[in-house]
Amino acid sequence: MTILVTGGAGFIGSHFVRDWIAAKGTSVINLDKLTYAGNLHNLDNLGHDSRHHFVSGDFGDRTLVQKLLESHKPVAVIHLGGETHIERSIHDPNPFIQTNVAGSFALLEEVRHYWQRLEDDKKSAFRFLNVSTDEVYGSLDPQEPPCKEGHPFQPNSPYAASKAAFDHLVRASFVTYGFPALTTHTCNNFGPYQFPDKLIPAMIINALKGKPLPLYGDGLQSRNWIYVKDLCEALRLILENGKPGDSYNIADTAELTNLELVTHLCVLLDALKTESPHRPHTRLISHIQDRKGHDRRRAMDCHKMEKLDWKPGHRFDVTLLRTIMWYIDHPAWVQNVMSGAYRTWVTL
Ligand SMILES: NC(=O)c1ccc[n+]([C@@H]2O[C@H](COP(=O)([O-])OP(=O)(O)OC[C@H]3O[C@@H](n4cnc5c(N)ncnc54)[C@H](O)[C@@H]3O)[C@@H](O)[C@H]2O)c1
Repeated sequence: MTILVTGGAGFIGSHFVRDWIAAKGTSVINLDKLTYAGNLHNLDNLGHDSRHHFVSGDFGDRTLVQKLLESHKPVAVIHLGGETHIERSIHDPNPFIQTNVAGSFALLEEVRHYWQRLEDDKKSAFRFLNVSTDEVYGSLDPQEPPCKEGHPFQPNSPYAASKAAFDHLVRASFVTYGFPALTTHTCNNFGPYQFPDKLIPAMIINALKGKPLPLYGDGLQSRNWIYVKDLCEALRLILENGKPGDSYNIADTAELTNLELVTHLCVLLDALKTESPHRPHTRLISHIQDRKGHDRRRAMDCHKMEKLDWKPGHRFDVTLLRTIMWYIDHPAWVQNVMSGAYRTWVTL
């Protein structure tokens, strides 16, 4: 019952690999190119677990993917790899198109050919899970209801557009060939091991050092959030009980503005770091020029997931506190990531 995961050395991927091995106990082929966002130290606590097979490589490399599929015969492919940082996509969209569209399409095609060669029982059990984002839906007006699955795509950043493009290719593969693919649209994730170019780790790391906490514009852009371990559980459930061809929205919290989120984080830090000279940490909040194409409001309706008997297992305030404590307790991980030292893995 081996599965193939792409991007398993990234933030969500490393949680997913650990979660899968703990929950299902079967092997994972982890195909990751180890870009700046990939870090094998994220998987240190797996030790030398024989169920984890790391392969350094590009999911867009069809020869490599074909070899892995033929030799390991996975029952599912979970596609978590890719370029994920919006600001980088604004600065230079090209790697996002090459990786998230062209590379992902090469993977999709290779997996589809593998699936077509499977015997009937294995063919009907096989799944391809495409992990996409709520950003494909674009920005909502204040009076609009949260997006349901099937809401029109209106991506506003090159990153979001690259994800939307691949979502369409996945859908076409199901409709045209019956390829058993499913897509998830998930909101902003947070938790341990998240690269510090994302909001929550960036704010924690800056606040601990007494550095400014830069918020785009007025900070009133609103989002749903989810603890990464809750997402992993939802992904497992979709693999087991989801319907091929369907898409699923996955989120936890009600909408929170970035300002509310960062204020909450500062209050938690004040309570944790009673000796800090930077208290109250809200003093560090600063407002910078808004980002180009910044979605004002993103919100998803996740009732479809309730039909799969899923609801988030963790409370937001508890997991936010746990995440802050993890960053406080793992200065070596933070230091490695900030210095780029973790990349020595690539040459080991
Ligand atoms: N983090 C979030 O809040 C969030 C929200 C919605 C959707 N998503 C989606 O979930 C997935 C995982 O996100 P994440 O935050 O863990 O990303 P991440 O940036 O932390 O990790 C991405 C991983 O993909 C690897 N990678 C990049 N290009 C590759 C290639 N060509 N071949 C093989 N590996 C490659 C990187 O080395 C890295 O390990 C992405 O598809 C992202 O779009 C993430």
